[in-house]
Amino acid sequence: MLDFPAEPYRIKTIERIKLISKDEREKKIVEAKYNVFKLRAEDVYIDFLTDSGTSAMSDNQWAGIMTGDESYAGCKNYFNFEKTVKSITGFKHIIPVHQGRAAEHLLFSNLIKPGGIIPSNSHFDTTRANIERLKGEAVDLVIEEGKDPALDHPFKGNIDLDKLEDLIKKRGKDKIPFGMLTITNNSGGGQPVSLENIRKTSEILRAHGIPFILDACRYAENSYFIKMREKGQSERSISDIARETFSHADGCTMSAKKDGLANIGGFIGLNDDNLHKSITDTMILFEGFRTYGGLAGRDLEVIARGLIEALDEDYLAHRTGQVKAFGEHLKAVGVPIVEPTGGHAIFIDVASFLPDIPLKRYPAWALTVALYREGGVRAVEIGTVMFGKQDKHGDDIFPPMELVRLAIPRRVYTESHMKYSASIFARIAENKGLVKGLSITYAPELLRHFTAEFKELT
Ligand code: F0G
Repeated sequence: MLDFPAEPYRIKTIERIKLISKDEREKKIVEAKYNVFKLRAEDVYIDFLTDSGTSAMSDNQWAGIMTGDESYAGCKNYFNFEKTVKSITGFKHIIPVHQGRAAEHLLFSNLIKPGGIIPSNSHFDTTRANIERLKGEAVDLVIEEGKDPALDHPFKGNIDLDKLEDLIKKRGKDKIPFGMLTITNNSGGGQPVSLENIRKTSEILRAHGIPFILDACRYAENSYFIKMREKGQSERSISDIARETFSHADGCTMSAKKDGLANIGGFIGLNDDNLHKSITDTMILFEGFRTYGGLAGRDLEVIARGLIEALDEDYLAHRTGQVKAFGEHLKAVGVPIVEPTGGHAIFIDVASFLPDIPLKRYPAWALTVALYREGGVRAVEIGTVMFGKQDKHGDDIFPPMELVRLAIPRRVYTESHMKYSASIFARIAENKGLVKGLSITYAPELLRHFTAEFKELT
């Protein structure tokens, strides 16, 4: 049994969840055309679809809700929010937005021209889509170790610095409006980026006069991994590491739905005065006035308080310990996972777990169906349905990994929920015939996983 600290909080309010009967689950998954995005959340028992916007708020955050000042301009919660985010990030300008992709949209539409190239370790899918919408090119340069699920490496989210230099040399610095790092690297298995890698990325980009933007959604979890895994960092506080992390960048996009411990919200952090002015001018059309950015005053207060709570070391030790222990439970019942475990999720290596189901029968998607059917557990496929492309004959081109992600909401589930979920995996591991391959009966052209429909094959 792996040891990790017990929750550094106790439970004051509860939300009822219910495991509906197996017959009902069967009916629901058929009605949903075997797509777990189409299930009603009420019909799910343990929901690992995402860690985004699904955190439980603290009593302190709920108390903050009551202090909401809903004035259109200059509400007092904005000033608390601004002061807090500045104290954490050190950026000169803090612009509130309704969530992370709104930050991407506003920042990118002010920076990217057609043909612009944006390197990163791995771009998240909304980040990539926001770049491509502006006819830019999103380039993933994660280190080779980051692409091997079984390989143990402390910072599998690092960017390959040689490839970054090479890209700048070959394509020219004028083609690159800015460079990015996603911390932690969600699309690459939630793996952290080392402080050294952040520092060197900054040096390379700054030497060429290229601005450096952090996708900072999970910066607190990333800072905790730096403290735990990086040489010379163990004595520093999490806020100190976070502050240094941000000091190497020229700006950030942030979804407060992750390490803001909020159900909605985000921000852009910036040092550049002209860019700040230009975003302020355009945001009124899309997000609202500069001091609320699509959020209620009470949301700004919740985020300000959540950001501070997410930097607490006891909280982070429990959070990362819970994720790691869940990974150990899964390995113990014979389920291969991406190693080492990252900050917010467990990724199942489905190609190794279910080698008998051919990729063209969508084994990772099939596993999400089996998890719901067997135990009311909802997970998300990150494999052929999500990232596969089609050639001109409509045949699938397969992505490098066939994964299922179990994202763990913050402060929501207990160890018994994790053990219960591992027991469903144990049942499937003992009888892999419970997982049935599928074929697609309907799929839209863009982002097909959200609405695709399937039939099961026998
Ligand atoms: N960047 C990263 C690394 C993310 O993980 C997400 C969201 C975003 C940007 C966009 O933020 O949702 O507030 O607009 N990730 C969620 C997930 C949806 O499930 O991983 P958003």
